Amino acid sequence: MAPIVSRPLLPLAPHLKQAVASYQRQEPLGFGQVMAPVMVRADYSNGEWSMPELVPYQGLTLDPACKSLHYGQQVFEGMKAFALETGEGALFRPQMNLARLNDSAARMAMPAVPSELFMQSLESLVWHLQPMIPRGPNESLYLRPLMLATDVGLSLKPSTSYVFLVIASPSGGYFAAGKVTALIERRDCRAAPGGTGAYKVAGNYGAGIRADIKATQRGCQQTLWLDAVHKSYIEEFSGMNFFAVVDGELCTPSVSDSVLRGVTRDSVIQLARGRNIPVAEKPLHIDELLAAIKRGLCAEMFACGTAAVITPVDALAEIDGTTYEVPPSTPSSLSLILRDQLMAMQTGRQVAPDGWLHRVGHT
Ligand SMILES: Cc1ncc(COP(=O)(O)O)c(C=O)c1O
Repeated sequence: MAPIVSRPLLPLAPHLKQAVASYQRQEPLGFGQVMAPVMVRADYSNGEWSMPELVPYQGLTLDPACKSLHYGQQVFEGMKAFALETGEGALFRPQMNLARLNDSAARMAMPAVPSELFMQSLESLVWHLQPMIPRGPNESLYLRPLMLATDVGLSLKPSTSYVFLVIASPSGGYFAAGKVTALIERRDCRAAPGGTGAYKVAGNYGAGIRADIKATQRGCQQTLWLDAVHKSYIEEFSGMNFFAVVDGELCTPSVSDSVLRGVTRDSVIQLARGRNIPVAEKPLHIDELLAAIKRGLCAEMFACGTAAVITPVDALAEIDGTTYEVPPSTPSSLSLILRDQLMAMQTGRQVAPDGWLHRVGHT
């Protein structure tokens, strides 16, 4: 049986309990638009973390000279809590997010968040916000742990003080249309060998916004990034990993120091292998993929990530307007079969592999 919370939950002040109880769902819910009235906060100084606390959701007082604003020491995670039929909330593979957060922190010379602090924060937030976890199809409580540097001073030095927060947002699906077209980005690059692409560092996303705007102007909903050295090998989308079914094989770019190790990516690979589908993690040359699409050898493409779950990609586009379409997805497409299976596991309707569903209920 999946774990049930055994550590003490953080207390919630009566006025915040009241704020949660009086939450009225807004329509349409959207994604990441509404914030829960409570967040977690812990502070780091003198080499130690304070006890996390549940505090009102409110603006931060940041000194204009603090290091996160100037030198980008800022890392985050994206997670979801789901409502189970039993009424409990459940996190999905939270230990993977913890490990990745701490890998990101190490890359940015920031302190690690102890496991106990992270899990107690997440469990307490999910427990107290249980009435705010939406229950409709594709809905969840989206959770954003983040850490930023707060030392004041313009010298380029690592900060010695940090704040850790977890904010929460009752959310619907990420892509309303349920599928996307992606623009192949041939000029900018998002991540380079030795850089920070394999980590969830705020600056990675800022570096991609210009290309995302261009994609939107071309009628696309995503940017497909190529490697920085050859501008030839597919890496990932701006906020999701890439998969394609080519010649009967499920292919995804190998992880590297410029590709994020997605929790959903790992889950997709395990679920596909569990169905005896051959999976190849290998370098994927964009020209070879486009040739395979033209020859009808690419049966489907999809994007995956916590926010988007698994979203079919119906076409890739070039800046000159050339498009490469794959057959439209149907209920028997691998992307939609895996999506259904993953969501059934996340909401407890189907048994998940050990350790995937982390139920948040009292012992
Ligand atoms: C750049 C990037 N790639 C991939 C992913 C998918 O990762 P995960 O499945 O852990 O959400 C994300 C989302 O976090 C992302 O921002």
